[in-house]
Amino acid sequence: MAHISASVYTSHIPAVGAAIDLGKTGEPYWQPVFKGYDFSKQWMKDKKPDVIFLVYNDHATAFSLDLIPTFAIGTAAEYQPADEGWGPRPVPKVIGHPQLAAHIAQSVIQDDFDLTIVNKMDVDHGMTVPLSLMCGQPQAWPCPIVPFAVNVVQYPVPSGRRCYMLGKAIRKAIETYEEPLNVHIWGTGGMSHQLQGPRAGLINREWDNAFLDQLINDPDALSKKPHLDYVREAGSEGIELVMWLIARGAMSDAKPTVAHRFYHVPASNTAVGHLILENN
Ligand code: DHB
Ligand code: FE
Repeated sequence: MAHISASVYTSHIPAVGAAIDLGKTGEPYWQPVFKGYDFSKQWMKDKKPDVIFLVYNDHATAFSLDLIPTFAIGTAAEYQPADEGWGPRPVPKVIGHPQLAAHIAQSVIQDDFDLTIVNKMDVDHGMTVPLSLMCGQPQAWPCPIVPFAVNVVQYPVPSGRRCYMLGKAIRKAIETYEEPLNVHIWGTGGMSHQLQGPRAGLINREWDNAFLDQLINDPDALSKKPHLDYVREAGSEGIELVMWLIARGAMSDAKPTVAHRFYHVPASNTAVGHLILENN
């Protein structure tokens, strides 16, 4: 049977992708950001997954106000990097895992979570920046990926609680897939940031670190945090953090091992947060 061995959490700031693509990672501003991912790139090689289940959000790239799926699972064979206004990033295409994705869709939908099934979409910085941070600049990403897009852009967005319970349904789905695959689940986006309005540039270091502590130690209580707390304390785009609860909900009930933890301000308008948790 397949199993989830680890979860990865990371911000997905587009300027980080641009810094990589333009060869600026060694510049004084960016160097401390990328240093936080040196461990992670080695860890990815040492603990190489067979598949990554990658929870992220689309930023009005593949979807728009025309069509707003709350939860969308990618069942395609491949996905191209999106053009977000500056041309597609020079990164590999994402190879999917249609069989595993179809199995998860079947299991999770039968478990009463409504998923939208996506057979064609381009993937934006929400997915490609975490891949670059964790894998560097390879010719091909290290394994197939199941994309899982969450609406955190247009209200109403799903609650932390629903995300957490969905994670548990995803775990059950993966653990009933017959092939013995080693699966990593990623939660991306966050941490505190607000990109618009009078509070643009908001950062809340204390709140972010309390979020990381609670994600590790008491995710069940964290999952009950209301939307308004995220928006008030972590900024309007801080709501992206509910996606981390999907990955955390998919972990086993035993306390995980913290393989790596990193926090840095600033990067663009955003705090960078990153965790690697291993299942016990
Ligand atoms: C920015 C955009 C994002 O989607 C995000 O999650 C963080 C930062 C930005 O434009 O700076
Ligand atoms: Fe974002």
